[in-house]
Amino acid sequence: KDDLIVLGIETSCDDTAAAVVRGNGEILSQVVSSQADLLVQYGGVAPKMAEEAHSQAIDPVVREALDKANITESDLSAVAVTIGPGLSLCLRVGVQKARKIASCFNLPIIGVHHMEAHAVVARLIERELQFPFLALLISGGHNLLIVAHNLGQYTQLGTTIDDAIGEAFDKTAKWLGLDMSRSGGPAVEELALEGDAEAVKFSTPMKQHKDCNFSYAGLKTQVRLAIESRNIDAKIPLSSVSSQDRSCRADIAASFQRVAVLHLEERCERAIEWALKIEPSIKHMVVSGGVASNKTVRARLDKVVKKNNLQLVCPPPSLCTDNGVMVAWTGMENFCMGRYDPPPPADDPEDFM
Ligand code: KG4
Ligand code: ZN
Repeated sequence: KDDLIVLGIETSCDDTAAAVVRGNGEILSQVVSSQADLLVQYGGVAPKMAEEAHSQAIDPVVREALDKANITESDLSAVAVTIGPGLSLCLRVGVQKARKIASCFNLPIIGVHHMEAHAVVARLIERELQFPFLALLISGGHNLLIVAHNLGQYTQLGTTIDDAIGEAFDKTAKWLGLDMSRSGGPAVEELALEGDAEAVKFSTPMKQHKDCNFSYAGLKTQVRLAIESRNIDAKIPLSSVSSQDRSCRADIAASFQRVAVLHLEERCERAIEWALKIEPSIKHMVVSGGVASNKTVRARLDKVVKKNNLQLVCPPPSLCTDNGVMVAWTGMENFCMGRYDPPPPADDPEDFM
């Protein structure tokens, strides 16, 4: 198993990513080509444009991943690729590339679920992490609390009923006129360091709902109203506003972040209780997905987890945000369990999805 080598390809959203991992958990290479420039220009992901960008990036990204790993396609044991959820136009670019390589080099192919990959990559980081475990997955499009019983076997405890937390971070950044060249989350996190988290009184979502679901649409609206009522003009970038305007923006960022994380804490507290009823042997809680790179999120959830005698496993930021390693590793785990498809035929039709 240690000698197996899997290439992972990820194109579900706005990053084109590829990576090569070995069966012993060694990351041989990791390449991400971001569409941040496009995001800034157009203020969001436009599927057609994202597809264009993936199509242009996919060949060089995969080539670089193989070169950096110092291998060629024929050294691979299998190819793994994200098959969903995500923008279908974008997913297709990755799947076509994976099928082409698999077909040319006679390699098995493994279809990977994007959210499962966010969770399972934690097992690459923490080799002690055994099933079952609890996982909180927080990204731009998803908010999930799941019990991972086994590879491919999950119970969903909660999901978002409207927006995901990452979406709220991104809109807050946009409305506060922050630099979106990475993504909104890191910009809000940075500005929040300067602000007073108690300055603006936002109410915590879903207080009256004693379940594990999430809602961030209401908090988003509260933020927008707070920004409007303080006459903050997002067209004026942070770098050119008065110090008074800047501290007002920082207070909103900090207050938003405090309540956004409070909502996570409350849900996690309850989810731990629920999860232990289903799987009393759980010892770990995984927190992953782009928003899990946030230091406040990590620190505060660590407290909740410790208080309940569990251990937090949070991948490093580069493996929390979308990446190829998580796809390669989840592919590796499936491959080792015998879950893969045979190489596609040489005359693989272009339009198979
Ligand atoms: O998992 P991911 O890379 O892509 C999706 O599958 O959606 O997550 C992207 C999300 C974005 O909304 C981004 O703003 C957020 O993760 N994010 C953060 C931070 N870094 C990325 N949110 C808060 N704080 C951060 N440091
Ligand atoms: Zn993701």
